[in-house]
Amino acid sequence: TTPKALVAGNWKMNGVAANLAEIEKLNDLIAGGGANCDVLICPPFTLIHQSVQAAGERVEIGGQDCHANISGAHTGDVSAAMIKDQGCSYVIVGHSERRTDHGETDEMVSSKADAAQKEELVAIICVGETEAERDAGDALSVVTSQVRGSIPADATADNTVIAYEPVWAIGTGRTPTADDVAEVHAAIRNVLTERFGDAGNSVRILYGGSVKPENARELMSVANVNGALVGGASLKADSFYGIVQAYD
Ligand code: G3H
Repeated sequence: TTPKALVAGNWKMNGVAANLAEIEKLNDLIAGGGANCDVLICPPFTLIHQSVQAAGERVEIGGQDCHANISGAHTGDVSAAMIKDQGCSYVIVGHSERRTDHGETDEMVSSKADAAQKEELVAIICVGETEAERDAGDALSVVTSQVRGSIPADATADNTVIAYEPVWAIGTGRTPTADDVAEVHAAIRNVLTERFGDAGNSVRILYGGSVKPENARELMSVANVNGALVGGASLKADSFYGIVQAYD
């Protein structure tokens, strides 16, 4: 039960209306062939509506975060219901930048994922160790504990995606070795099968952190890597399509 791969782009706090042309171009490139995977772009909230219009048939649009509540007095926040309402199918939760910038704990990430899943969005739950944690030999224990703590009690294998992003590999041009990626993804797979039984084998586990067209094929061929979460290289259609083509 190898799941269909997902290649997801996270634009982070980048992009204005002029960048929507990249989404249109990406859809055209994919429609031309060479992408045997699901393709997702998560633009900033301000562009979600226009991105859904621009995306065409082959690109899905998602959010980068959501609040744990569905509505209410939370100035500046956006709920899973609002993201769903705009035509999105996915939302990222617990990205390391949110864990750092906004002090999000596993418990908060789990609440956000729960809100997303109750609105029938797929939650892309991000985990990953810092460089100090890896150097101390704690990568596996940190990551497996984040996975256990961040998946909500009512989650299913179908509405859960895990993204493993070593914090030290994000935006740095550095990537773990294929063996290190394999070791962490296997440990995550074990947690998923403990949690969901056999269905845990169908949960997609993405790798993220300095994925580029040049290294995508090698990283995507590692056991238990079922796609990518891409930051910088997702901003341009050509480079993102170069990554998507790892699944040709
Ligand atoms: O969500 C995406 C990741 O944080 C990876 O970012 O591809 O720019 O290293 P990056």
